Amino acid sequence: MKINLTRERENTLLKEPLMEDIATEAKACHKCDLWKQRRNTVPGEGSLNALVMFIGEAPGYHEDIKGRPFVGAAGKLLDKLLSDINLTRQEVFITSVLKCRPPKNRDPLADEVKICTPYLDRQMKIIKPKIIVTLGRHSTSYVFSKAGLETGNTTRFRGNVYEIGLSGFQISLIPTYHPAAALYDVGYKDKLEIDSQLLKSELENRGKPHTLHKHES
Ligand code: URA
Repeated sequence: MKINLTRERENTLLKEPLMEDIATEAKACHKCDLWKQRRNTVPGEGSLNALVMFIGEAPGYHEDIKGRPFVGAAGKLLDKLLSDINLTRQEVFITSVLKCRPPKNRDPLADEVKICTPYLDRQMKIIKPKIIVTLGRHSTSYVFSKAGLETGNTTRFRGNVYEIGLSGFQISLIPTYHPAAALYDVGYKDKLEIDSQLLKSELENRGKPHTLHKHES
């Protein structure tokens, strides 16, 4: 019997075990103290062939309970921003800088970022997204620093697309606010909407190939 796998499906089959290794390692990870209070690790989820990767800061209360990224109030806004530009969670990959919840949702510590980001680096290498959307200053400064660039606050850097080299591959980086910011100040929501239109234009410039995976067999 001839097995006819599409290249997309072949890629997925190669990538799945690599991504599962990351989830398994994170689950057993004791490299920083965050494991002591976690209920679940939150490695991330979505398409392993995603053109677009969203990187948040760290799991919060609901994510820690469910083991899934952006499932609380900020996640509802992220879902809305995605659906406004005709994207689904299944088409993109969503993760965060830290894979465990910091106590009381405090900011990630520099050491925690240093210890945890090898997981994120491996995820970026597996998925090889063409576009990365960083949600908030922690993921923005991490991705910029990987490209050898410095950042400051999100307000200065958002609203633009940056073409950067990341570990040997080129990506378009769209830094924006963390959706949680919009829960406290609606002004941020408008900016997030503007930045998601930037993402839409980037995808359109690429002939909307984000819908390619729908042809998967
Ligand atoms: N905020 C994040 O940065 N990541 C999540 O997974 C949830 C909330």
